[in-house]
Amino acid sequence: MKKNCLLITISLFLLNCEKATIKKKKTGVIAQKAMVVSARVEASKIGLDILKKNGNAYDAMVATHFALAVVYPVAGNIGGGGFMVYRNNDGTKGALDFREKAPVIAHRDMYLDAQGNVIKNKSTEGAYAVGIPGSVAGAFEVFEKFGSLPFKDLIQPAIDLARNGFKVTKKQAISLNRAADKFEKVNNYKTLFEKEWKEGDWIQQEELAQTLERIRDLGKEGFYKGKTADLFVNYVTELGGIISHEDLSKYKAIWRKPITFNYRDYNIISMTLPSSGGICLAQILKSIEPYDISKIKHNSTKYIQLLTEAEKRSYADRANFLGDIDFVKVPIDSLTDTEYIKQRMSTFSWNKATPSPEISHGKILGYESDETTHYSIIDQFGNAVSVTTTLNTGYGSKVLVKGAGFILNNEMDDFSSKPNNPNIYGLIGSEANSIASEKRMLSSMTPTIIEKNGKLKMVLGTPGGSTIITSVLQNILNITEYNMGMQESVNQPRFHHQWLPDVIRMEPKGFDIQIKSSLKSLGYTILEKNALIIGRVDAILVLPNGNLEGGADPRGDDTAVGF
Ligand code: GLY
Repeated sequence: MKKNCLLITISLFLLNCEKATIKKKKTGVIAQKAMVVSARVEASKIGLDILKKNGNAYDAMVATHFALAVVYPVAGNIGGGGFMVYRNNDGTKGALDFREKAPVIAHRDMYLDAQGNVIKNKSTEGAYAVGIPGSVAGAFEVFEKFGSLPFKDLIQPAIDLARNGFKVTKKQAISLNRAADKFEKVNNYKTLFEKEWKEGDWIQQEELAQTLERIRDLGKEGFYKGKTADLFVNYVTELGGIISHEDLSKYKAIWRKPITFNYRDYNIISMTLPSSGGICLAQILKSIEPYDISKIKHNSTKYIQLLTEAEKRSYADRANFLGDIDFVKVPIDSLTDTEYIKQRMSTFSWNKATPSPEISHGKILGYESDETTHYSIIDQFGNAVSVTTTLNTGYGSKVLVKGAGFILNNEMDDFSSKPNNPNIYGLIGSEANSIASEKRMLSSMTPTIIEKNGKLKMVLGTPGGSTIITSVLQNILNITEYNMGMQESVNQPRFHHQWLPDVIRMEPKGFDIQIKSSLKSLGYTILEKNALIIGRVDAILVLPNGNLEGGADPRGDDTAVGF
């Protein structure tokens, strides 16, 4: 990929990131029974209050989800979508897909000009970039299947938070100030986010409070029909978007069978398509499983080399094969087959980097039939949920629905606008992820739950666009191979390779100079940037004595609370 294109990709990804500040604190919050870890203390506490009222993890999920939509507008949302992986205390597991969809009249070439070139910013900024949101439908699916408390009790704390307001943190003020110009550019009125923010300022969102009240009183229809839908469709239309009432009323969240696989003694449960997360995680872990990883020094040259080469091969397959399973045939079994993966890794050499152009995708055995947020919850009954939701990049499309107070996603950019043309994360896609009416765009979100000996061991996930998969991967290895605690694991510096561009991204100051030079001498290109952070992992580890340890990422304002 061209250098300037790479820089644009990275700088956009970094829009809301701060310089990595990796605290040395090693032990996280410990609780005996229940825990919520999310991007904001207010949302974590709201989730925990629900658990204290004898609500279950699903009740807490709904409450945390709506609270994040208020207090974490960069990524928490009702105008976006996401995925949930769950494990009940009886060992049953499942996954919910509330990913956004393309509008009915969307089509393959909608972001191309007459010459067939991708039109800059069209899939990332403004109303034309918006996919049909799934978050509200997702929350209701969860509530209807598993909820135990009245819905109004779950959403009311978010309504109060929107109406009464909350304090802006230092990191949030920086992030809001960076986005102000974009809000001004994209909207046709002065939004409440356009001002000079400083730490300690107060944000009140009355219009959002009223939208949440319509959801409280009318259920799903309080969002997808009636006044909220009118405000949504009218404003998007005013701004040149294509979402219709039909699009909103047709949206459905879908229960899916998660990807499950073994890694050594662990059973890993992760998200399936339309997220690539679980498949890529399985491929990478299976690629490195034959090596005695615990004997390789953590974050050493060898460790980075091995993971990088496995990641390259998996992301090359992602680019070629993966897309919405309801629209394209994806050979999941073949892609995660041990022999196939062994064959893919056969070209790996400790002596030099395999250049990405030499990798391409594998020959499969046959067809069988920058901004997001994550929260992890374990309840006092032993149920666990792992939820990653997104507006895509920070504050999504920057469209703030006039009169309704919620931000719309720019998830359409997760489609491949044109084969082999990188999206905002630098990810390449093929026909499998091309745009089609009502199709879901490929994601990297990787909400994951891990079992050991049939018992719950860990719940984890992260934001970070294309780096989500590799951040989850590194935290799994920190625990399973290096015996770290949860907070210690989350604090570790991270790196990432995604096949193209052919660079290892590294958190600055996280890696020894000697390691970087030895990687360079092996043929690797390293990309560090002052502001770069990779992911914000929020996770819970079940300790051998049954206590829970939270890992709340110090790269953000993330907070673990428990009892
Ligand atoms: N929007 C980021 C993802 O879904 O991977």
